[in-house]
Amino acid sequence: MANTILVGAQWGDEGKGKIIDFLTENADIVVRSQGGNNAGHTVILGEKKYVLHLIPSGILRADKACVIGNGVVIDPVSLVGEIETLKSQGVKIRKGQLLISDAAHLVFPYHRLLDEQREARKGRNKIGTTKRGIGPAYGDKAARTGIRVCDLMQPAIFTEKLRAKIQENNAILKALGAARVSFKEVNDACLGAAEKLRPFVTNTVLYLHEALKAGREILFEGAQGTFLDIDHGTYPYVTSSNTTAGGACTGSGVAPHRMDRVIAVMKAYTTRVGEGPFPTEDAVIGDILHGMGREFGATTGRARRCGWFDAVATRYATMINGTDDLAITNVDGLDGLENIKVCTHYKIGRKRLEVPPTDSRLLADCEPMYVEFPGWRQSTTDAKRWTDLPTAARGYLKAIAELTGARLAIASVGPGRDQTIVL
Ligand code: GDP
Ligand code: IMO
Ligand code: MG
Repeated sequence: MANTILVGAQWGDEGKGKIIDFLTENADIVVRSQGGNNAGHTVILGEKKYVLHLIPSGILRADKACVIGNGVVIDPVSLVGEIETLKSQGVKIRKGQLLISDAAHLVFPYHRLLDEQREARKGRNKIGTTKRGIGPAYGDKAARTGIRVCDLMQPAIFTEKLRAKIQENNAILKALGAARVSFKEVNDACLGAAEKLRPFVTNTVLYLHEALKAGREILFEGAQGTFLDIDHGTYPYVTSSNTTAGGACTGSGVAPHRMDRVIAVMKAYTTRVGEGPFPTEDAVIGDILHGMGREFGATTGRARRCGWFDAVATRYATMINGTDDLAITNVDGLDGLENIKVCTHYKIGRKRLEVPPTDSRLLADCEPMYVEFPGWRQSTTDAKRWTDLPTAARGYLKAIAELTGARLAIASVGPGRDQTIVL
């Protein structure tokens, strides 16, 4: 399987969790290297549904190791909650199965309150964040005022750092007219969480390098999607980390030349949660998908905005990520449609655009130019092999892969493990 980076090629929720769970069979270690519990990765096993936020989606295969890398921001209380939820679902996590980087930064309640306040103040220009405090936590990291897991592992040092941070942030929250946080409550909760997390905390960079030396194969699980990338996405309507392939290196400490393959996951159509430009957004396909009970967010439950497949966006994603292979999910979401539109380029005024403009305001003004494909109007959910798919579905998938500029490797026709077609 070699060392593989898996990223989302759109605006998140492409089905990364499902594909990671599937690919983990042939990997040794699964690594999350960016994002926080803003992510919601769904894995369906039989009748059971698991939604992973911070823990890699490889965790459901007991013989594999999962790493939360240095580039992730961790809400320690929420991570303990996630471990306990998994336990209540019958997934026990042993020492050695989960490894948490001692260099990862922490998310605290004041980050969440600041996230909320900044959003409220932006009014109609809000980003539509998950309100998990992700932006303020990465902000502290970049400003070199963050608190890390290694601090949390030393209670006396942690308590002093937290006291100063809460003092500073309470003054800001007061000025904003917002609720303040109780130092004692946060400190107690974090120190309680620290003891539960301690067995898992280590220098994950060393761990991964030892693993590489031993010839073990690593799968890097991206969170969010290419157009939510802080550098390459639809800024400012983005998240606060590098969601693209490069983030896997900086967020794990594994060097670029050790990476062998990049897989991009994309839906057979497009969705986006939160605000920001979305050229191919379309109420018709949105109503159809929501009517089927699909496309509600795994983290916040918000209805996702829906639209046609945007090949301008995915082609750009291929360039940034260096995508080798594609996994196209939710093919079955299009099963009932008579005709399916695909955006091949944009127009702005008289100008034809082959790549998304850098400025989000211009992107919002872009008019999508479509070609139409015939639908297949039959269920694909039982297809096991490529040749089981209707001819029109195969034609559609080949066409969108070609427009995206990478090799079609996986087609997914349902949320289950056995609804995955490998080409
Ligand atoms: P992620 O954030 O990229 O891991 O994606 P999410 O889990 O947030 O959202 C993807 C949704 O699509 C989840 O509910 C998955 O169970 C579901 N899913 C993934 N692949 C397929 C598919 O091929 N067909 C169907 N029907 N659902 C899928
Ligand atoms: P997964 O990993 C979809 C979106 C939010 C908002 C913007 C910024 O499940 O694909 P943030 O809370 O990160 O500051 O919000 O990014 N967003 C996601 N959208 N899937 C996600 O993760 C997302 N994580 C953040 O909706 O628009
Ligand atoms: Mg998701």
